[in-house]
Amino acid sequence: MAGFARQLGRPSGLRGRAVGAMLNRANRNTVAQAVDALSLPSGSVTADVGFGGGVGLDLLLEAVGGTGTVHGVDVSQTMLTRAAHRYRHDIRSGRLQLHDASMSELPLPNDSLDGLLTVNTIYFVPDLAGPFAEFTRVVKDTGRVVVGMGDPDAMEKEPYTAYGFRIRPVAEVREALASAGLAVEQDVRVGRGAAAVHLLVAAPVAPA
Ligand SMILES: C[S@@+](CC[C@H](N)C(=O)[O-])C[C@H]1O[C@@H](n2cnc3c(N)ncnc32)[C@H](O)[C@@H]1O
Repeated sequence: MAGFARQLGRPSGLRGRAVGAMLNRANRNTVAQAVDALSLPSGSVTADVGFGGGVGLDLLLEAVGGTGTVHGVDVSQTMLTRAAHRYRHDIRSGRLQLHDASMSELPLPNDSLDGLLTVNTIYFVPDLAGPFAEFTRVVKDTGRVVVGMGDPDAMEKEPYTAYGFRIRPVAEVREALASAGLAVEQDVRVGRGAAAVHLLVAAPVAPA
């Protein structure tokens, strides 16, 4: 279980590749709804932070069309290498840029994105203030941020989350977004019942 939890936090090696494929299957619907929630016109500039197996890269590339740009950010060499091979044509054409970087230090200019999503990643960061400040910095005033997270009560019941996952109440995540200048407009639930995943859809607060 500890090994599986580590793989989810930073997939690595052959096992990491299998975990990436599993994540793509398990999370496709959630990530698709996160992409929808960004309401991206074609030609948009976007990012998937902690893209893992890369299903979000696929869906974002489709959403932004031939004139848009997608940034993929991850700390896992295995996921970066896998995506570099799989999306080599999109990288060559300039539609996709991959970054070996952490969400707490995004290698992206200020006000450069129309939309940013991050799904199933915040369990792996010790504090939310740094990453959320980065999201605010890189997203335009007109942009949107979607933070996807498992329902905390459901996550607590999963045996692997005992090994290093930071499970936070939804209210705490909303407060951290607000402190970073991101107002949650919607909590879209994906899945059935109380265990449904939360997609917190947030917009930059206009300066007073
Ligand atoms: C559980 S996977 C989720 C992947 C994908 N978003 C999904 O929902 O299927 C977590 C991903 O976040 C990445 N990750 C962990 N910490 C990160 C950080 N500080 N910055 C960027 N990515 C991170 C991991 O390497 C891994 O690929």
